[in-house]
Amino acid sequence: MYHISPSLLCADQIELKQTIMDLDKMGIDWFHIDVMDGCFVPNFAFGTDIIRAVRGIAEAPLYAHMMSVHPMDFVKPFAELGADYYCFHYETTANPFRLCQQIQDNGMKAAAALNPSTPVEVLGDLLPYLSCVTLMAIEPGFSGQRFLPHTYEKIRRLRSLIGEKPVRIEVDGGADIPISMKCMECGADVIVGGYFTLFDKNESLRNNYRAYRKAQREV
Ligand code: DX5
Ligand code: ZN
Repeated sequence: MYHISPSLLCADQIELKQTIMDLDKMGIDWFHIDVMDGCFVPNFAFGTDIIRAVRGIAEAPLYAHMMSVHPMDFVKPFAELGADYYCFHYETTANPFRLCQQIQDNGMKAAAALNPSTPVEVLGDLLPYLSCVTLMAIEPGFSGQRFLPHTYEKIRRLRSLIGEKPVRIEVDGGADIPISMKCMECGADVIVGGYFTLFDKNESLRNNYRAYRKAQREV
């Protein structure tokens, strides 16, 4: 099942344990965990201790979105703390093949994220080594920003580049329910559930999840 990956950055951090247990029961693809180093993006998020604690209770896989200028340095520590997917930003490394190899040697699935200004074509030769591509629909660093509409066209181009390869497309940032549905029509598999969907504060998590699933059935 592919549809939504909740961004734990958007959850009420004090209630994180309950939120994780609720989401696991609802059925999600993976937990999207934003790791921010204060350098690649002007913000900090999710260190190793909290991720280890999340791993201790979460049933769904953990998808580490590494907004770090040194992705090579954290492969082993993230494997040891139980991350399932290790998603590096393509912009941060001159050696993406070596990095994918290291990620796989450490028992994780390799994924690559692209900033809004990075064309999908840069991934052409790397796709056979990737399990997922995260297309940023906002400049990374903060939740609650406006979705950049050229992302639709990038999803279509990436889908056609991927062809029959078993590579998923995840879209991250700014997606409300109508935008999420349109992204899926363009060929996305998973939408990061954040500020405008699952964690929309006007409704409960359960109602937000129901509304998302209902929209998916109606598309
Ligand atoms: C931002 C993060 C996103 C963010 C999602 O750098 O990568 O995962 O939480 O954004 P919203 O909540 O706006 O969809
Ligand atoms: Zn993210």
